[in-house]
Amino acid sequence: MSKVIENKERGQWGSKLGFILAAAGSAVGLGNLWKFPYKAGTNGGGAFVLVYVIIVLLLGFSLMIAEIALGRNTQLNAIGAYSKINKKWGWVGALGVLAAFLILSFYSVVGGWVINYLVKSATGALKISDANVLKEVFGGFVSSTTMPIIYHGIFMLITLAIVFVGIDKGIEKASKIMMPSLFVIIIILAIRSVTLPGAMEGVKYFIIPDFSKINMSVVLDALGQVFFSLSLGMGCMITYGSYLGKDTNIPKSGIIIPLIDTAIALLAGFAILPAVFAFGFKPDQGPGLMFVTLPAVFSKMPLGTVFAVLFFILVLFAALTSSISLLEVVVAYIVDKWNFSRQRTSIAIAIIIFLVGIPASLSQGVWSNIHLLGNRGFFDTYDFIASNILLPLGGFLLCIFVGWIWKKQQCEDEITNGGEIKFRLKKVWFFLIKYICPVAILIVFLRSIK
Ligand code: PFF
Repeated sequence: MSKVIENKERGQWGSKLGFILAAAGSAVGLGNLWKFPYKAGTNGGGAFVLVYVIIVLLLGFSLMIAEIALGRNTQLNAIGAYSKINKKWGWVGALGVLAAFLILSFYSVVGGWVINYLVKSATGALKISDANVLKEVFGGFVSSTTMPIIYHGIFMLITLAIVFVGIDKGIEKASKIMMPSLFVIIIILAIRSVTLPGAMEGVKYFIIPDFSKINMSVVLDALGQVFFSLSLGMGCMITYGSYLGKDTNIPKSGIIIPLIDTAIALLAGFAILPAVFAFGFKPDQGPGLMFVTLPAVFSKMPLGTVFAVLFFILVLFAALTSSISLLEVVVAYIVDKWNFSRQRTSIAIAIIIFLVGIPASLSQGVWSNIHLLGNRGFFDTYDFIASNILLPLGGFLLCIFVGWIWKKQQCEDEITNGGEIKFRLKKVWFFLIKYICPVAILIVFLRSIK
């Protein structure tokens, strides 16, 4: 098939704002709302937050720009993009496809929890102010065998339905309403949370770094979390960039998206961690943190039920705009490579991911005594392999590729739209991508493996 026809069939974003919304939609998701607060809680609070922000500043912006540019230049999926520029590099994209696959399998399990909590809050089953009872409600649900798997299936089904129809205006339109609403509701929640009696302890825990808590495993966790949250290191932004018109301002997008993403993560931290202390919980209780703490916050608000329903709808939406990007990475690769039908490929992949996700769900209950990597069960093992190994590795290789393999002139032309856009930090960006980022990732990676 000629390149032109192939590109026509791949579809494009409806508008410039459409791309920003879709890319921000991919970035903002469970990673910000659910994972960031609990990771901060298990990694010593402020120390983790500080390391996280430093990594976003140093790596997040640079890699975002690099991925988008690579995608738009080649107009191809993750693997195609690498191998179009250098045949030997296709396997790097393949690592990304593998990461997407693994992430979606446990992401969808948590997406299922969100749907269940949406139902629970709509039916009034979450109107509980006793934090210990809320803990039992959560534990009881996730450790049961069938219901979480059914909800995981429902989440996968909705994801599939959206990817099925392709790059659709519907998602862009919905994002224009949902993303700002999410922002507003999280701000309201954060205000409620920090004004609860006893919340100050939590605010301090979240913003004042205790440097004795920083070690290499905290740094690796923060690094993995940055990649996860910004959808970097696995070709997601390459794939999204490939649907981009030639007139988009890449540096601007590469700065706005990480800014939005980090703002939402920090706000989610303010919504959850101060409340954790106010209710006398422990911050290091892991994946249940959001599901146990926020219902307790809602119970202390006027119109709490309305807020709860609204909140879980928005979390679900944020999760779906991320899960479709994960599925899209896998589907785009197979469709581009083998020319299979988009529909059939989406269905087959969704089914396989659903099946792979089942052990992650069971590991919260009947299979909780099965350990794979160290102390980790299926759920944490998927997360660790994908977020802490595959994504940083993908990010490292992206830097080497863009900094050392891709022709510098071609790369610069892509980022500045052939010289039309003034990108003042071009030299700094290139220096970061070529030297600082890969070395930093490598050091964290090697030291923490030790
Ligand atoms: N960034 C998403 C989140 O924070 O929820 C998760 C994710 C989506 C990771 C897409 C990676 C990706 F390629």
